[in-house]
Amino acid sequence: TDLAHIRNFSIVAHIDHGKSTLADRLIQMTGTVADRDMKEQLLDAMDIERERGITIKANTVRLEYKAQDGEHYVLNLIDTPGHVDFAYEVSRSMQAVEGSLLVVDASQGVEAQTLANVYQAIDADHEIVPVLNKIDLPAAEPERVKAQIEDVIGIDASDAVEISAKTGIGIDRVLEAIVTRLPAPKGDRNAPLKAMLVDSYYDSYLGVVVLVRIIDGVMKKGDRIRMMKTGGLYQIDRLGVFRPAMQDIAELGPGEIGFLTASIKLVRDTRVGDTITTEKKGCEKALPGFKPSVPVVFCGLFPVDANDFEDLRDAIEKLQLNDASFTAEMETSAALGFGFRCGFLGLLHLEVIRDRLEREYDIDLITTAPSVIYNIYMTDGSMKELHNPADMPDPVKIDHIEEPRIKATILVPDEYLGDVLKLCQDRRGVQLDLTYAGQRAMVVYDLPLNEVVFDFYDRLKSVTKGYASFDYQMIGYQEDALQKMQILVNDEPVDALSVMVHRTRAEARGRAMCEKLKELIPQHMFKIPIQAAVGGRIIARETISALRKDVTAKCYGGDVTRKKKLLEKQKAGKKRMRQFGKVEIPQEAFISALKMD
Ligand code: GTP
Repeated sequence: TDLAHIRNFSIVAHIDHGKSTLADRLIQMTGTVADRDMKEQLLDAMDIERERGITIKANTVRLEYKAQDGEHYVLNLIDTPGHVDFAYEVSRSMQAVEGSLLVVDASQGVEAQTLANVYQAIDADHEIVPVLNKIDLPAAEPERVKAQIEDVIGIDASDAVEISAKTGIGIDRVLEAIVTRLPAPKGDRNAPLKAMLVDSYYDSYLGVVVLVRIIDGVMKKGDRIRMMKTGGLYQIDRLGVFRPAMQDIAELGPGEIGFLTASIKLVRDTRVGDTITTEKKGCEKALPGFKPSVPVVFCGLFPVDANDFEDLRDAIEKLQLNDASFTAEMETSAALGFGFRCGFLGLLHLEVIRDRLEREYDIDLITTAPSVIYNIYMTDGSMKELHNPADMPDPVKIDHIEEPRIKATILVPDEYLGDVLKLCQDRRGVQLDLTYAGQRAMVVYDLPLNEVVFDFYDRLKSVTKGYASFDYQMIGYQEDALQKMQILVNDEPVDALSVMVHRTRAEARGRAMCEKLKELIPQHMFKIPIQAAVGGRIIARETISALRKDVTAKCYGGDVTRKKKLLEKQKAGKKRMRQFGKVEIPQEAFISALKMD
C-alpha cells in the first residue's frame, strides 16, 4: 500500500469509556469480520487476551476502508493498555502511530487516565481527534465535556465526533475523521530496512510473535534480520497482519504495521522499542528512546504448602515466557521456607500475576508485604538497592536511605475533595497543584511510592465512593527518615511481616498491625504476645489470650451436622495456615495486617 493510503492510529481513553466497544464497531463497519462471525471472532480474541492476561500490551488490527472520496485505505489500529503500570509500553505503541482517537464518555467527562494517556499522545506528536462516546445516554452532556476537554487538556474540541459505540451512531464519521484528519505516515521505501519492535508475545504454537512498525525500507518473508540493541540475528519465518486473525503477507512496506515470527524462543530476547534492520546493509542509526521496563514493586511469593514449591517454579517460568517485566529470584525465609522474590511494574501487575498463579495453576500462596526499592547509602560511601525489608543492613552502617516518589494526579468530585486531601496528607504527600475542571477538582500530589503500593487505591475508592480517578508517574528518589519495623509473634520475628516505615508513622503503624494480627490469628492453647519493634525497641504490643474450651463445645454435642460443619471449616482453614514456631498464622493475615483504615 502506498503511504498516502495508510492511516495508523491508537485509541486513548479512561477505563470503561468505551474503547473496546468502539474498536469492535470499527472492525464490524469496515467488514473486517463478516457480521455472522462477529460475535465468535471477537470472543476468540477476548479469550486470547484473557489467556495472555494483562501482559498483552498492544493489540493491533488492520482495517480496510473505502472512504467517501472513493479511495481504499488501510487503517491500522494499535490498542494500548490503559493502566499506569504499563506507561512505558503505552509510550512505545504511541511512537508507532501518527494519530489518536481520544474517547471520552460524554456522561462522565475527562478522567485521570484520559489525561495521562492523552499527554502520551501529545508527547508523541499525534494528531488527536476527540470522540464523545455514549451520547445515547440521557446523562450525556457533549457540550459540557467538549468545554472540559478544551479547558483541561487544551486541545480544540469543536470538531469532536459525537458517537454511540453501543448503538453505532456516528461510527461512519469516526472512519472519515481518521482518513481526513489524521496524517499519512512518512517513510522511504528505497532506504535500508528500519522497523520498530512495538510488542511481542509468546504463542505456544508459533513461539515469539513480534509486532512491528516499518519506518523505512521493506520487510520480506525469509529476510535475515538483526535487532540493533540486543544484537540478535534471526530469519523471518512468517510475516503477516492481524485482521484480527493472522493473515500471511509477502512484504510490509514503510508505514505498515504487522507481525513476524523468526524462531525466537523467549519474549526476553525481544525488547520493546528495539530497532529491527537487515543483517547485511542495515540502517545505520537505531530509533531513539529505548528503555527496558523495570520492576518497581517487589514482594515475596511462598507456597502455603512447601510441597508446591516445584509447581510454583514451573508456573512462574511459564508466566515469564510472556512477560519480560515480571522478575523472580529464589528466596528463603526463616518463617516461610522456600519461595520467590518477585518484581512487578506496579500493584495491578502484582495482583494479576498472583491471581493467575492461584487460579490457573492452583497454588495457594502467601504474599508478603509489597515493597518498593530503597537506595541505602552506607557509611563507607557505597549504595545498596534494597528490594526486601528483611535484607536491611545493620543500621549503624547506614548513612541515609532514599525512597522513590511519584507524582499522582487525582480527579474527584468537589464533595469528596476534603477526604482525598486528608488521605494524601496522611500518606506523607506534598500538594503540588489544585485546579478545577467543571464540578471536579484535579489535585496533584508528590507522594512516597511506598505509601501508595499497598492500599492507596482501595482507600481512595472507598473515601470517594468510587468517584475518584487516579494516575501516577515516578519522579525520582528522595532521602527520608525510614526505618525497618519487625513484627514478633510469640517472641519470634516473622520476616514476611517486616516493613519499611517512616519514623513519624512507625508507632501508629505498629499499633495498627498488632491490633489487626490479634484479630486475624486464632486463639491457641497458650497466650501469644504480638509485638512491633524498631531497632530492637518494642513500640507496640497486643496479646492473644489462651483458648480454654474445645471449639465444638458450644454446639452442646446435640447438633451433629453443625459440629461436622464446624470441624470441616476448621480443616479448610488449616490448609491456608502457616506454622511459625508454635503459632499458626492464617495466610490472609500477611496482607490484611498491612491494610490501614
Ligand atoms: P476497558 O476495556 O475495561 O478498558 O474498557 P473500555 O474503555 O474498552 O470500555 P468498554 O468498551 O468495555 O465499555 C465499557 C462499558 O460501556 C461497557 O459496558 C459498554 O457496553 C458500555 N458502552 C460502550 N459504549 C457505549 C455507548 O456508546 N453507550 C452506552 N450506553 N454504553 C456504552
